[in-house]
Amino acid sequence: SIVSPLLKTGYHFQPPRNWINDPNAPMYYKGWYHLFYQYNPKGAVWGNIVWAHSVSRDLINWIALEPAIYPSIPSDQFGCWSGSATLLPDGTPAITYTGISRSDINYQVQNVAFPKNASDPLLREWVKPAELNPIAVPEGGINATQFRDPTTAWYADGHWRMLVGGVRGGARGLAFVYRSRDFRRWRRARKPLHSAATGMWECPDFFPVSGAGLENGLDTSEAGPKYVLKNSLDLTRYDYYTVGSYDRRRDRYVPDDPAGDERRRRYDYGNFYASKTFYDPAKRRRVLLGWANESDSVPDDKAKGWAGIHAIPRKIWLDPSGKQLLQWPVEEVEKLRGKPVSVAGKVVKPGQHFEVTGLATYQQADVEVSFEVSSLDRAEPFDAAYANDAQKLCGVKGADAKGGVGPFGLWVLASADLQEKTAVFFRVFKDGYGKPKVLMCTDPTKSSLSPDLYKPTFAGFVDTDISSGKITLRSLIDRSVVESFGAGGRTCILSRVYPSIAVGKDAHLYVFNNGEADIKVSHLTAWEMKKPLMNGA
Ligand code: FRU
Repeated sequence: SIVSPLLKTGYHFQPPRNWINDPNAPMYYKGWYHLFYQYNPKGAVWGNIVWAHSVSRDLINWIALEPAIYPSIPSDQFGCWSGSATLLPDGTPAITYTGISRSDINYQVQNVAFPKNASDPLLREWVKPAELNPIAVPEGGINATQFRDPTTAWYADGHWRMLVGGVRGGARGLAFVYRSRDFRRWRRARKPLHSAATGMWECPDFFPVSGAGLENGLDTSEAGPKYVLKNSLDLTRYDYYTVGSYDRRRDRYVPDDPAGDERRRRYDYGNFYASKTFYDPAKRRRVLLGWANESDSVPDDKAKGWAGIHAIPRKIWLDPSGKQLLQWPVEEVEKLRGKPVSVAGKVVKPGQHFEVTGLATYQQADVEVSFEVSSLDRAEPFDAAYANDAQKLCGVKGADAKGGVGPFGLWVLASADLQEKTAVFFRVFKDGYGKPKVLMCTDPTKSSLSPDLYKPTFAGFVDTDISSGKITLRSLIDRSVVESFGAGGRTCILSRVYPSIAVGKDAHLYVFNNGEADIKVSHLTAWEMKKPLMNGA
């Protein structure tokens, strides 16, 4: 394998070995966080899918239990695919998930499972009542191979409701609504909650949010002033969301932005898919979990024996404009911070860079930095052709393409000779009205000298007021992952990279400026990161 075992992540969620994908049924129950996930017990490629199960007191230290949901009934005998947890009024949880019921095609139905013993806080055993399952089948012309991933249910006006992802006519992605009075017998509503011309919706998620700028989360059954609908687009492999209104009586959702917005805002502009949120009553917050696949080759995954991680759980809430979500790593991750080093008031001239020193290695670090741009005068004109394609813009103007204001930011997982480096940076443009437009990118094109790696440039625009010249960046570096939060979590980018020399003590951290305007690092702190309990790995 060209990927060194030293690149296995340490504080990102991962089992000791094998393939993982989607997070499933996250919930808080009797003092424990539960996380299930799509898992192949037999290898490092997708297949033989069961629900592996881990528990945690803090969303950071994880203990692995035995798989909780695995093929055992006719309606899930060929696979237990993604699903969600709902806490019923008496406090017991229910899991709804997709079962594969045929071997010739991936024929999809929905199932329900209940804890065998609800007094066990670890919820180790689940039963799938034979008289109930499957609870939903692809009737009425539904495409049976594109019908999956039930959401957490919510209760309103005497009925439970949950969504199931699908597609109509091959092109219209949608979220079917199912209703039930007792959580046992379910009926599909005639109309979907919402649909858009995007292709298949996997892993829908739907939840209320508090008002603009309010950080507290809402239970999924609470009525919110606003709602968020997320879908994972099979076609692009990204998670998109809209903010909108929900008519509880008619079970219809309407995004605030005019139609056609379903492919615009993303939770993360990098490698982050099939995500799911849950309401955490212990800290009154909504938490987002997502899957990040590998970017190496399948032979590499087989050789290293593992593939897939989850992002650090993120608290999410509506930003003060009400137009987008803010995301921030859950505060518990800060418990892993060890020795810090800081830099303050340091100016980086055009074309210059400096190394952050003082830690033994920057292979695993939490870095927070506040930048100040001396002047926006030199900002390059924004080419409107890229208005909807930040990623393309960053592909053309990568970290080494000299600019006006920026590119400036961090080189992480960098070798001492700078042959290897992953750039996380901002670049400021000016639109036709002279208004600044901020681009955030992760450029991994120089991240490794190894061949056969997928090294996509990732980027998103940042909806932030940079007129004061100030902007912040946080990067969580963990051996083969760089997870970055721009402008307080307005734009996030997770990227997988596999350095060949910037490994161990040779993993360095730099601040660079390839623009024409001076950039000041008002403040930078980098912390060493300790290793949490990680499923026994
Ligand atoms: C998303 C997904 C889901 C499905 C599961 C199967 O990554 O394709 O739609 O339920 O993975 O593992």
